[in-house]
Formats: sequence, structure tokens, C-alpha cells
Amino acid sequence: MTHKGFTLWFTGLSGAGKSTVSEIIEKRLREDGARVELLDGDVIRTNLSKGLGFSKEDRDTNIRRIGFVCEMLSRNGVVAIAAAISPYREVRDEVAAKIEHFVEVHAHCPLATLVDRDVKGLYKKALAGEIKEFTGVSDPYEPPLHPAVKFDSSVETPQESAEKVWVKLVELRLIAPDD
Ligand code: ADX
Repeated sequence: MTHKGFTLWFTGLSGAGKSTVSEIIEKRLREDGARVELLDGDVIRTNLSKGLGFSKEDRDTNIRRIGFVCEMLSRNGVVAIAAAISPYREVRDEVAAKIEHFVEVHAHCPLATLVDRDVKGLYKKALAGEIKEFTGVSDPYEPPLHPAVKFDSSVETPQESAEKVWVKLVELRLIAPDD
């Protein structure tokens, strides 16, 4: 396949499917010979953003750092995939404005389903007040107004959501799979 350098930015609540769907896209791109890097919030917070918390200020710093790396990678022909909650619209838009090819994906899932699934057990703790400033429970999440793609993991399989993203990338001519 051929591809441009671009940034694929997943935003959404914890557990909504950002990591799962981004990993499917990453794998598929790599299998097709693309140069790709995945920047996952959970991983970034163990190194590049180690020590940052979840105040608005720290989250914005985290997102600016991830955006900075994505911009460098994209500019050099690499596909950068970001998967972080990135709850604040303003800083997402700030990052987007600095990147030539930026594709925003909204990983959506109703809160009730996320609480029900509670894969990491964090929603239970947040609802009990044991975790403060938890996105969607006791901290804001500002959904994108015009995402290039929106999926709902409560009604789609991860493969279906990934397919939506893939189709959009082809449509935008950021990737051109060989046939
Ligand atoms: S972001 O807001 O700065 O974009 P990021 O995606 O890096 O967040 O990290 C979110 C992950 O941190 C969640 O998936 C969850 O595992 C963990 N986490 C711990 N505390 C919180 C909190 N207060 N709010 C949201 N996520 C939290």
C-alpha cells in the first residue's frame, strides 16, 4: 500500500474502544507495509507523561505532548495513531491545527454501558467517590463537534468500527491499498 503521513486521533471515554479499535487499525496498516506508531494514553502516562495527573492542566499537557510527537511523525511520512481520552475540545483543536493531515475519531459508548462493562473496575471506584475527577463521572468530556468518524462500541463490533475508520482513510486518500 501507499500512504501519506497523517495523524489518526481517537478521543472518547475510558473503555469506549479507543485502544481496541486503534490496535486493529495499527495491525492492519503494518501488515500492509505502512510505517505506523501508536501512542496510547495508558502507555504514554508510564513514560513521556509519567507523573502527570488528571487535572485539566495535566491532561492538556499530556495531550500537547502526544500531539507534538504525532506532528513530528506525520510530517516525516509516518502514520501516528493517538488513543487518549483527550476530553477537552480546545486542546484537541489546538493540536489538530498544527498537523497537516489530522483525522479525528470519536469512540463513543453510552455511560451506562461503560459502567456495566467496567473492564478496569474504575467506574465502580469513581462512582463510589474513590477516584476523583474521573472523566464522564465527575469530570467533563467534550465530544468532538465534527469528527471524521464516530463509532458506537455498544452496538458495533471492534472490527466494524475499525472498518469505518479504514473506509474514511481511503476516502480521504491518506491510504491507498494495493488491490
Ligand atoms: S487524558 O484525559 O489525559 O487524555 P489518558 O487517555 O492519558 O487521559 O488516560 C486515561 C486512562 O487513565 C484511563 O483509561 C484510566 O485507565 C486511567 N485513569 C486514572 N484516573 C483517571 C481519571 N481520573 N479520569 C480518567 N481516566 C483515569
